[in-house]
Amino acid sequence: MLTEEQNDTLTRVGPGTPMGDLMRRYWIPAILEWEVPEPDSPPVIIKLLGEELVAFRQTDGRVGVVGARCAHRRAHLFWGRNEENGIRCVYHGWKFDCEGACVDMPSEPEESNFKDKVRIPAYPTYEVGGVIWCYMGPPEKRPAPPLFAWTQLPSTHRTISKIWQQCNWLQALEGGIDTVHSNFLHGGRPPGVKYSENDPRGRANNFSTAPILEVVPTDYGYTYAGIRSMGAEGTNHVRGYHWVMPWYQIRAGGGNSGHIWIPIDDENTMVFNWTCTFAEEPMSERAHKMTGSGNELFVDIDVENNCRSVRNMDNKYLIDRQVQKTETYSGIPGTNTQDRAVQESMGPIADRTLERLGTTDGAIINARRSLLKAVKTVQDGGEPPGVAPTYYKVRAYETVLPQGVYWFDAMKDQLYQLSEAR
Ligand code: FES
Ligand SMILES: [Fe+2]
Repeated sequence: MLTEEQNDTLTRVGPGTPMGDLMRRYWIPAILEWEVPEPDSPPVIIKLLGEELVAFRQTDGRVGVVGARCAHRRAHLFWGRNEENGIRCVYHGWKFDCEGACVDMPSEPEESNFKDKVRIPAYPTYEVGGVIWCYMGPPEKRPAPPLFAWTQLPSTHRTISKIWQQCNWLQALEGGIDTVHSNFLHGGRPPGVKYSENDPRGRANNFSTAPILEVVPTDYGYTYAGIRSMGAEGTNHVRGYHWVMPWYQIRAGGGNSGHIWIPIDDENTMVFNWTCTFAEEPMSERAHKMTGSGNELFVDIDVENNCRSVRNMDNKYLIDRQVQKTETYSGIPGTNTQDRAVQESMGPIADRTLERLGTTDGAIINARRSLLKAVKTVQDGGEPPGVAPTYYKVRAYETVLPQGVYWFDAMKDQLYQLSEAR
């Protein structure tokens, strides 16, 4: 449970808010590379942390993220002409480059130097891992580039998509770091139906519905584990994750995958979903298309409508009550759709003054505490965690360990890529 003030601090992200100031100290995934595929391709409307912006790829290949409105009389630059290293407002022809400078003002007399005094907001960008990231904080505080392990792989070994979620960022993040719900919402079975006994995770789920949750704080956030006893086998199934401040989750399964929860504004979130393989051979074509920009398997993402969810609260996420009775726990198709359904059902901003947290909510409690502490650090003029590049080598990992073995010691090599284990 939080006070109203704490809940407001954690959930309001606009310019000048405490959390907004903290978030502006990190690189922010803004759009995917394929949205601005080539020089002078059409501009894209985006909104980040409550700010209306436009992204465009200039003639020289650089990507600009600038304020959405023209400095002259506020026409939206989405309608603009992207040409010769700048975006030109179609109302009276003023043109701005990716740094926000007005570089042409054809509606004013030629001898006027007015254009030299006019700018629009512009944020630096960085392109890696199929993502255009942008930095919206004080220029002198710009952190090291976001070189997560998955961003360093060739595009054949990673893929990323994005989808709009209709609720505040924090309840989406809290859903991601809450490993317990996967036993119910995603993997739960109606009475009498069991998980496959051929799979260690399945056997663990059949035996333990209340896993032990352990959090190990780190300088970038924390490493956490969901530990499920496998009963008579004398072993535990351990799923090790990372939370990297402020909005990244990294989890194991096949290779690694993860969510990134980026606030569009206080009541909307863009969820980036990535997956990668560390193996020599590339990802399968199908896996690549499932989450990449290949399109035909985009079952739940309306790419033509800013990646809105096809299954959404208006159509009740296409819940099938018969399936819910006999096959799955929720009756809602798709893991990520199930997440969105429950997270959006908490309201645009969950009222955390009314919740009742249990022992398995430890990771969530810890994340809130860390975020509030980081807000304070920034207010006091300090450097928040996750800004320094200490997260570059982290990977998630899951395994089966004998009971009594401390998971963190046993898995450290894989969690921090201390060896070249794949
Ligand atoms: S409003 Fe953009 S040039 Fe006039
Ligand atoms: Fe989930």
